[in-house]
Amino acid sequence: MFTLNDPKYREAREKAKELLSKMTLEEKVIQLTQYIGTDNSYNPEHKEKDGSTNAGRCGSLLAVCGAATVNGFQKIALEYTPHSVPVITGCDVIHGYRTTMPIPLALSCTFEPDLIRKCYGIIGKEAASDGVHWVYAPMVDVARDSRWGRVAEGYGEDTYLCSEMASAAVHGFQDDGGVMACMKHFVAYSAGEGGRDYNGCEMSMQTLFNTFIPPFQAGVDAGVGTFMNAFNEINGVPCAANRTLLTDILRGKMGFDGFVVSDYDAVMELINHGFAEDEKDAAMKGYNAGVDVLMLGNLYNNYLPELVREGRVSEEQIDESVLRVLAAKYRLGVFDSPFVPDDSDGEFFSDEHLKTARECARRSFVLLENDGTLPLIPEKYKGKKIGVVGPYADDRISVLGCWASIMTPSRTVSILSALKERYSDSDIIFSEGVDFSDGIENIEKACCDMAECDVIIAALGEHSSQSGEATSKTNLELPENQKLLLERLASLGKPIVLLVSAGRPLILDKIRKSVSAILYIWAPGTEAGHAVCDVVSGDFSPSGKTTISFPYTSASLPYYYNHKSTGRPASGEMTFESKYIDTPIGALYPFGYGMSYTTFEYSDAAISSDKIKAESGESINVTLKVKNTGGFEGYDVVQLYVRDVVGSITRPVKELKKFVKVHAAPGEEKEVSMTLSRDDLAFWNADMEYTAEKGRFKLWVAHDSDDNNIEFDFELV
Ligand code: GLC
Repeated sequence: MFTLNDPKYREAREKAKELLSKMTLEEKVIQLTQYIGTDNSYNPEHKEKDGSTNAGRCGSLLAVCGAATVNGFQKIALEYTPHSVPVITGCDVIHGYRTTMPIPLALSCTFEPDLIRKCYGIIGKEAASDGVHWVYAPMVDVARDSRWGRVAEGYGEDTYLCSEMASAAVHGFQDDGGVMACMKHFVAYSAGEGGRDYNGCEMSMQTLFNTFIPPFQAGVDAGVGTFMNAFNEINGVPCAANRTLLTDILRGKMGFDGFVVSDYDAVMELINHGFAEDEKDAAMKGYNAGVDVLMLGNLYNNYLPELVREGRVSEEQIDESVLRVLAAKYRLGVFDSPFVPDDSDGEFFSDEHLKTARECARRSFVLLENDGTLPLIPEKYKGKKIGVVGPYADDRISVLGCWASIMTPSRTVSILSALKERYSDSDIIFSEGVDFSDGIENIEKACCDMAECDVIIAALGEHSSQSGEATSKTNLELPENQKLLLERLASLGKPIVLLVSAGRPLILDKIRKSVSAILYIWAPGTEAGHAVCDVVSGDFSPSGKTTISFPYTSASLPYYYNHKSTGRPASGEMTFESKYIDTPIGALYPFGYGMSYTTFEYSDAAISSDKIKAESGESINVTLKVKNTGGFEGYDVVQLYVRDVVGSITRPVKELKKFVKVHAAPGEEKEVSMTLSRDDLAFWNADMEYTAEKGRFKLWVAHDSDDNNIEFDFELV
C-alpha cells in the first residue's frame, strides 16, 4: 500500500517528483508541517502578530474530521497553499470512529487476527467517509507494566501476539478501510521507568530488537504509510532526535518507505529533555534524526529553510521527506478527490458494524473466575430477582474506552438496559451503590435492595478517564468505595457475578475470594450491554485469554510471563531465590489465561521430530487433539511456547510462538497442527546477529503461559 514494492505507490512517487520539482524550499517545508485544525492556525482571517496568516502553511491537519469541516479546510488549502497542494487530516481513531469497538487491549484478548482486521476495516471505512485520511493507530508498544495507563491502547505483553495484531490492524485500516495507518510510538515508550508516562529507559539493543521492535516491523511488512516517534528517551537519547533509531534502524534495517511524524510536541520537548539548546537546535536535531513531519506548529517553517542555507540540514533530505508526504497524498487520492462527499454516513452504526462490535466485545471478555454460577441461563431465572449494582451498570461513556474519538454515548447499549431486555421474565432490581465519586452514602441502600435478590451482578472497575495517556498509577486496586460495596454485598451471602470494566488489569487477589465469578469486560464499546448479556446468559461461551499478566499487587510490577530465569529462579521451595517474601511470585492470572463455560482436554500431543536443522525454512510439526469435555460449545486457544535453554545471551523462560483458536461442540474433538520453524527461533544474539543458535530447546503446548503439562525437548542442529 505505501511501500515501494506497491506499484501504485511507486506511481504516486513519480507524480510527487514532478510536483516537487516546481517547489521552492519554503514551499517544500510547508508540506512537512502539521497544524491542529481546532485552533485558528488555519483561518485566513486570523492574523499573526506580524499580520501574516498561517492559511496554506501546512501540509496536514491534526484532529480535523467531519466531511463539512474537512471540506472547509480543504477549500482553504487549495486556495492558499502554494501549488494548491491539498491537505490530509490525521486523527486519533484508535478503536472506533462512530461505532466504538473494544479497546485494543481487549481486542488482543480475542487471539483472532482475522476478526481484528475486519474490526479495523470497519473503523477505517467510517473514518474515511467522514474525511479522515490518516489514523494515528495502531499503537503497538509491548506492555510489561500496567502502572502505565496506555497499556489500554496496545495489544499486551507478548511480542509475537502484538506483531500479529499490528499486521491485522494495518491491513484492516489501509487495505480494507482506505485510511493510512501509523505505527506508534517508536519505540519502547511502554518501558518508561516506574511505569511513568513519558519517562525514559535504559535498554540493550538486544532487548529493543527482540521485544519492542518486532511489532513495528510487522507494520512495515504490512505496508504501513507512517510511523510516529515516541516521547521518551532511550539510553540518554530522546527518540525524536535519535538518528540511529529513526533513520539507520527504521529505514536501514527495517526497510520503511513512508514518513515519520513527531508525536505532538516531541521535537520542541528536546529542550526539556536537555538535548537541544533552543527551538532552532531542536528543529535541526529532530529533522536530521529523521522526523519528516512536525505534528504541531511552525518550528520547521521557522527554521528549516535557514538551516538548509547554513548547510546544517540537507535539501536532499528535505526533498526525500517531501516526496514521501506527497506520494502518500497521491496514493490516498486526495489530489484527484480533495473533497469528501458530505452525504455519506459511512454506515455509522450500521447493523453490520454493530454486529462486529458486539462480536469483538464478547470474544474479548476474559472469564477469570467461575464457581458455576455463570452462565445465568434466563429460563432458570424466570420469575427470580436479579440484582444489578455498581457505577458501570448503567454507564454509557466509560465503557466506550479511553480513545473513543467521536464519542456517541447515546448509541451505547448499557449493561443494565441489555439485561432488562434479555431477562424480561426476571425481576431486574438496579441500585447503583456507588457512583464515580468516592462516596459511600448509598452503599447501605444498595445492600437493602440486593438483600431480596437470588443473584447479584456487580459492574465495577476503573473509569476510562483513568487509563490512556498521562494516567500512570501506583495503585491498581479498585476504588475504596467499590471495595466497601463489594464487601457489604458479600455479607448478604448471595452469589455475586463481578463484571470488571477497566483499561488495564486491576488487583483482584482479595476480591476474588468474595465473589462467585469474575468476567473481565475491559472497555467493550458501543455494544457493551449486548455483549455482556451474550456471555452472562450463556448465549456465548467466553473465549477471551488475557494478553497481559494480572499481578498479585501493584508493587509486583513490572511483571510479564516471558521474563528471564535469573540464577535463582523462583520455585517457592528455597529460601535464597528470586522472589518476594510478602507476595507470591508470578501472576494471579497469567498471560494466555481465560476460562470457558466448558472444558477442553488435550491428548495425543506429538512433535514430528526432536531435531530441527539450523537452516532457514527447516521446521517440525506439532500436533494434538483438542476435545470439548464439557456441556457447552466453546472456543479454546491452543498456545505453543518455546524456551531456548542456552543462548549467547540469556533467553526468556518462555515465548509464545504460535496459537490456534478452535471451536468445538460438547464432546467434539478437533485435530490441531502447528508448524514450528527454525526461523521462529531466531533472535538478536550477543553479537547483534539475527540468528537461531544451535542447542537445546523446550516446547510446551498449553492452555496458558503457566501450563507446563505437555512438554517436549528438541534440538536445533
Ligand atoms: C498524543 C499521543 C499520541 C497521539 C498524538 C496526537 O500525545 O501520544 O498517541 O496520536 O498525541 O493526538
